[in-house]
Amino acid sequence: MAIEKSEDPDAFRDFEHAGWSNSIAGYNDSLGAVTRRTVDVLLDAAHVEAGVRLLDVCTGPGMLAAGASARGADVVGLDFSEQVIAVARANAPALTFECGDAQALPFDDDSFDAVVCGYGVMHVPEPDAALREMRRVVRPGGRVAISVWDSSTPDNGFGLIYAAIGACGRVDVPLPHGPDFFQFGSEAKMRAALNETGFSEVDAKLFALTWHVASADGILDDIRRGAVRARALLEAQEADALRKICAHLDASIAGMANDAGGFDVPLPAIIGSGVKA
Ligand SMILES: C[S@@+](CC[C@H](N)C(=O)[O-])C[C@H]1O[C@@H](n2cnc3c(N)ncnc32)[C@H](O)[C@@H]1O
Repeated sequence: MAIEKSEDPDAFRDFEHAGWSNSIAGYNDSLGAVTRRTVDVLLDAAHVEAGVRLLDVCTGPGMLAAGASARGADVVGLDFSEQVIAVARANAPALTFECGDAQALPFDDDSFDAVVCGYGVMHVPEPDAALREMRRVVRPGGRVAISVWDSSTPDNGFGLIYAAIGACGRVDVPLPHGPDFFQFGSEAKMRAALNETGFSEVDAKLFALTWHVASADGILDDIRRGAVRARALLEAQEADALRKICAHLDASIAGMANDAGGFDVPLPAIIGSGVKA
């Protein structure tokens, strides 16, 4: 199946750029606290070890770049927002971060031993172009590894949020058209996308993750602070609908209570990797 693209790429890119420039500090300590727990599995999938020259595409707060550097890799982090780069530099002042677009990487062919991209490909207007760019800049025999959220289901965090909005609010909110957020969100879909963009030795696996939240309000707060499309959807809801959405979520997570007085909401990831032949 062909990888879906935005029908309005410039508007979608501007929307994502403004969203991330504005929310990256909030992402750093909300959903970023969850994605940090996939740093090691993603670096392992890309075979990152001491001496490897690594590119971290869509670096965000720079957690993958920092993790790779701790392994002794020589890493460059790239993001398209200067505000994001400023947060990455504050988190990891000794590392190199550059501003650039995932769809037109400012590097020569074959210039890295490995490339990683954590939770980034669903935010670019043409994800196939981004995957092909990662393949172009890695050397023959080098690995590319990417992570995405698993598709929404009735039992996981994104599924619970969309079900609550669907039941109590409106989903027909006018936003710039973006590619399906979950188009890589299963092992089979991830494998198909990596095969389609020319990788060999393709692998994909589900990685269990839990979103620790204090309440349903905490879920909505994390989305408001650290997401772009889902935040825009929430911001478009009427106040009364928002109260109902929160109550709906409260009921959905009741069975997920943990011993600390909060809730453990499943938020699995898909980790994919491939080799440039
Ligand atoms: C969800 S954050 C991921 C951050 C981090 N990699 C992680 O694993 O948590 C997505 C990042 O992708 C960046 N991004 C989105 N579209 C991009 C593009 N076209 N080119 C480069 N970076 C982009 C955003 O600025 C944001 O920092």
